[in-house]
Order: sequence, then structure tokens, then C-alpha cells
Amino acid sequence: MPRPSILIARAIFPEVVDKLAAHFDVEANQADELWPREQFIQRLQGKQGVFTTGGERIDAALLAQAPGLKICANMAVGHNNFDLPAMTAAGVLATNAPGVLTETTADMGFALLMAAARRVTESEHYLRAGRWDRWSCDMMIGQDVHGSTLGIVGMGRIGQAIARRGALGFGMQVIYHNRSRLPEAEEAAVGARYAGLDELLRTADHVVLVVPYTPEAHHMIGAAQIALMKPTATLVNIGRGGLIDEDALAQALQAGRIAAAGLDVFEGEPKVNPALLACANVVLTPHIASATVPTRKAMAHLAADNLIGYLAQGRAVTPLNPEVMGGA
Ligand code: 8YV
Repeated sequence: MPRPSILIARAIFPEVVDKLAAHFDVEANQADELWPREQFIQRLQGKQGVFTTGGERIDAALLAQAPGLKICANMAVGHNNFDLPAMTAAGVLATNAPGVLTETTADMGFALLMAAARRVTESEHYLRAGRWDRWSCDMMIGQDVHGSTLGIVGMGRIGQAIARRGALGFGMQVIYHNRSRLPEAEEAAVGARYAGLDELLRTADHVVLVVPYTPEAHHMIGAAQIALMKPTATLVNIGRGGLIDEDALAQALQAGRIAAAGLDVFEGEPKVNPALLACANVVLTPHIASATVPTRKAMAHLAADNLIGYLAQGRAVTPLNPEVMGGA
């Protein structure tokens, strides 16, 4: 039987390319070129599997032009680059990479929260610019994190990991908003209280967005929602850029309607809204929440295990549309 052929859309760890090459004929992109969509589709010809990152859109139009494709394995927990109903309709398995990045991503959520509330990057820019010439009692004065109220929007694995950090490490009161309430025992483990979104925004001192991005969640935080927040509040986004109306956020930050923000994700990334770049009171990082060596390796290995599991052994590890499985 000929070996299945797969495409790896972006450069990944050589050890993971080698692992895949033990099972498949592999076309890799170790030069890390950003292929235009037509070229990506061209390279998918004759491939049964593709290793994707969050940047490759898989939809009905693409699937119609890649008829041999059986599995798309995303090296990301988020899968808003996948049109899942279209993939299921085409009999193409989708897999993501949950679990392995939970704690690392929660660490970064907390890093952004701390940096925004305590004005860490703003202070560093001030110092590096040679503007620090004396101590003063209100220089770079910020807000406390410990003992404050943490509002988490999206209480999946990562949301719960952030809740643990807040409740157990920083003595915070935790409120959360989620599509569905957690079982009581899970709420009790971190002392978290369920709240409506408006109540959460009104009550929290620090708001962290970690909700999956769907069309319904588009710009869920806009001018009206920001207006509910405390003027001393911080807003952190480690979900997807499209959750926030960035123009509204930039206006609110400029006007001091909220104190600060910490953003790892952007609607047009890698381009960043110039209105945000112009704000001093926002910490900006280039989508690095999962970017540690062990975690990125674990994510890549999990995506590879999904390809191997499905194309070589019939079962994927973390399927998103398991109803498709069985036909490999
Ligand atoms: C990835 C992410 O680095 O897992 C996710 O959903 O946003 C990040 O951890 C990114 O999607 C590239 O694959």
C-alpha cells in the first residue's frame, strides 16, 4: 500500500517533521514561506493530511479543490480557521491541540494582567527614554492585582487555570461568565461565582477574555461593554482579536475610561491597529501566549499524533468532529 502523503503548512520542529516522515511522504515548509491560498491549495493536491497552524483557512471552497484530503490537524487549541460544518460535510476530520497549552497560556494571561495593572511596559519605556529623573509618589502608579476581583469570560480549561492563579495565588475573588455554568464542585475549587456578562464587567477589577472566537462572539466587547467597566479596570485578551472592537478599546484607553489593557491577539494580526499602537496604557505582545519550548513542542507533537493516529491507525487523539472518524 502506498504511504499517505501529507503537507506541513508552516515550519515546525525538525523532530516533528522526522516523526511524521516515519509514517508519511511529507512535503514540509521548513523555509516557513507564507503561501498564498492558491499555492496552498495547489500543494494540497494528492495529500491525505495537512498539518495546519491557526493561519490556514479550511472551508468549503478549499475542500472542493482538495478532494483527497482526509484530515486537517491544527497546532492550536483555537480552531476558528476551520469551517467545521463544511469539513464534516466533506468527510474531513478536524483535530486541534487542547490541554497541552493550558497552563502556559494561563501564565501569559496573568503576565499581561500584571503588566497592564502595574504599568510594567509603560514604565520600562519611560525609563529607557531617559525620562526617570526622580522618585515621585504617583509616578507610574497603578492598580493592585492581589485581593481584587478577577472577571473571566470563557471558563474552559484555560479560564479555569487563570481562576486558580487568581484565587489561590493572589487571593482574588473570581467571577466568571461562560456559555454554561460549571458544576458546583468546580466552581467551589476556585471559589468562582457565575455572573452575567454585564454584571461581570461592572464588578471586576480585571477582566480576562479567553472565550473561543465564533461569529456570535465577534466584537462582544465594544464601546457599550467597556462603558460598564470601572475606570480603574484592566482588560486582557488572550482569546482572539475579533472578540474586541479595537477602535472602541483604543478610544476608551486614550480617554482613560478604563485604566489599561493587555493584548496578545489582534483582529488583523500580524498587523496591529495603529490606534492601539498609539496608546501608552496597553501592553501588546505578538500572539505568544503558548510560546514556550515545551508547550510549542507538545502542541506540534499532538498535531502529529493526530495525523499518525488517523491516517496510519484509524483513530485521532483529539478530534473536533469525531463523527467523521472510521473512514480513513
Ligand atoms: C497558537 C493559539 O500559537 O492554540 C491557540 O489557539 O492561539 C496559539 O496557541 C496559534 O494559534 C498558532 O497555531
